[in-house]
Amino acid sequence: MLKGTNITKIFGGLIAISKLDFEVEKSSIVGLIGPNGSGKTTLFNLISGFLRPEEGKISFNGDEITHLKPYQIARFGIARTFQIVRPLKELTVLDNVATGVLYGRGTADIKEARSDSLDLLRFTGLESKKDTHAGLLKLADRKRLEVTRALGIRPQLLLLDEVFAGLNQKEIDEAIQLIFRIRREMGITIFMIEHVMKAIMKACDRIIAVHFGIKVADGPPDEVANAPKVIEAYLGTGYVTD
Ligand SMILES: Nc1ncnc2c1ncn2[C@@H]1O[C@H](COP(=O)(O)OP(=O)(O)OP(=O)(O)O)[C@@H](O)[C@H]1O
Ligand SMILES: [Mg+2]
Repeated sequence: MLKGTNITKIFGGLIAISKLDFEVEKSSIVGLIGPNGSGKTTLFNLISGFLRPEEGKISFNGDEITHLKPYQIARFGIARTFQIVRPLKELTVLDNVATGVLYGRGTADIKEARSDSLDLLRFTGLESKKDTHAGLLKLADRKRLEVTRALGIRPQLLLLDEVFAGLNQKEIDEAIQLIFRIRREMGITIFMIEHVMKAIMKACDRIIAVHFGIKVADGPPDEVANAPKVIEAYLGTGYVTD
């Protein structure tokens, strides 16, 4: 479904991503791991059109998307969340989701958008907070809102950037269940960045590991977690095990 070939991204003198090849198969849940600063969010910025690579090609369902703008990529069916959540703080939870629905689908009917948004909030378990101002939500709910708003554009592929960060164990378990339901009931493919090893190993079919922008492993979770290059990459930076 998503394929990157020979992707390179340079910031000044810093090579953030180097000659990276990757693939995400339709209906899979693929994880992206690596120490801080290894290029994970940069890769999501390249896929979603916020940045352009110096080299390489990204294609989605066989169409090249490398040089498209973020809104064009969203309309192609790729939605993302942000590592630092970005709710529209002055709007209610419902209207935050409605913006995603209006934007992604190009409909101008606010009533219809709100009704679809309510269905989505029911799905993600945020319905009871629909009238709360997004700025007042606690972190776990803000992350859930970020995911709900991304679902509003009815994506085929969802890019999740650290949706478990800062959550407690119970909230992480709930987030994993939500990810499974998004795939199972909505048929959405998921590519997710995570630091919480135990959680990503449980959630993903396959994991890609990067270090200094270079791919160091790609395979089943247990294989990647035990790969010498992955262990080496994490030594000294802390290995999050719970
Ligand atoms: N817009 C930018 N301009 C300059 N440098 C950048 C920019 N975005 C990222 N970088 C640098 O590129 C490198 C990779 O950053 P990136 O945010 O992709 O890492 P990450 O793997 O997501 O890290 P983390 O786990 O901490 O979120 C870092 O050295 C970062 O400082
Ligand atoms: Mg990041």
